[in-house]
Amino acid sequence: MYNLPQRPRRNRKSQAIRNLTQENWVTTNDLIFPLFLTEGKNKKSEIASMPNIYRYSGDLLLKEIESCLKLGLTTFCLFPSISNVLKDKKASEGFNKKGLYPSAIKEIKKQFPEAVIMTDVAMDPYSSDGHDGLVKNNKIVNDETLDILCKMALTQAEAGADIIGPSDMMDGRVGAIRDALDENNFTDVSIMSYTAKYASAFYGPFRDALDSAPKFGDKKTYQMNPANSKEALLEADLDASEGADFLMVKPALSYLDVIKLLNDNFTLPIAAYNVSGEYAMVKAASAKGWIDGERVRDEILLSIKRAGASAILTYFAKEFAVSKK
Ligand code: PBG
Repeated sequence: MYNLPQRPRRNRKSQAIRNLTQENWVTTNDLIFPLFLTEGKNKKSEIASMPNIYRYSGDLLLKEIESCLKLGLTTFCLFPSISNVLKDKKASEGFNKKGLYPSAIKEIKKQFPEAVIMTDVAMDPYSSDGHDGLVKNNKIVNDETLDILCKMALTQAEAGADIIGPSDMMDGRVGAIRDALDENNFTDVSIMSYTAKYASAFYGPFRDALDSAPKFGDKKTYQMNPANSKEALLEADLDASEGADFLMVKPALSYLDVIKLLNDNFTLPIAAYNVSGEYAMVKAASAKGWIDGERVRDEILLSIKRAGASAILTYFAKEFAVSKK
């Protein structure tokens, strides 16, 4: 026998002991479920690169939310799929009070006031240029974009949004949106800022879902360079001082260090977005029988939690909730 005063394996000897020593847990309460909304009635179409994730017309979206609420999911992040004829350079449909998106939010909050609705603020779903900001002379202009983002945020708040999620990465947008909300008596509407949003190849399936890929160039003049982490601290400093309620890191899996960095340095709660490409990879490998998709899913969500996220936006939310029932 060796003289080993510490034998860490003792704390792994049974499931019960492993539970007692477990440092992090993922529960359905931690998850935010992104949902795609489309025009029409009784429509549900699967997104090719995201098995089991659908675009729903408003009526079916209500049914989907109802079934998710029953599973214990509380919070939903909505993205609209807008038909090309409604897209223009100024993303006008994004602040059309009678548009698809605000109408759906109103209906959801009317039927399910307990559902927490997070909205997306960025021009890309409505922009004929497919960019998150206003394009002038092939450049994405910052300050004029802020005016449009504020109009979008107000339209969403008026419709009943609980959390506004600016995903555009323009400078100064959190402060501009906070001011616009406060001036219009929406002091209770929260902002979950996409604080450290990287220019990532992992967004591919999402852009398929909304047909929102940029028509020229890429998003590198506003989304962050994947090589950088100090820059995330700068963005977080600004968002915190401008009034953000949550700081989000996106994507999640390749940026666990950034989640930890922000969690170690800021008192605000940290959210992470387990994005479309991360979902698609797991689904594709699992369909081939190369990995155990459910175990990989749970391990990924746990790793995001362990890194320091208190909320996780994930396309796995519903199947996770089902698996815990
Ligand atoms: C756009 C937006 C994107 C995502 C959320 N909001 C894509 C992009 O920036 O091009 C990606 C989400 C995902 O991939 O799951 N403002």
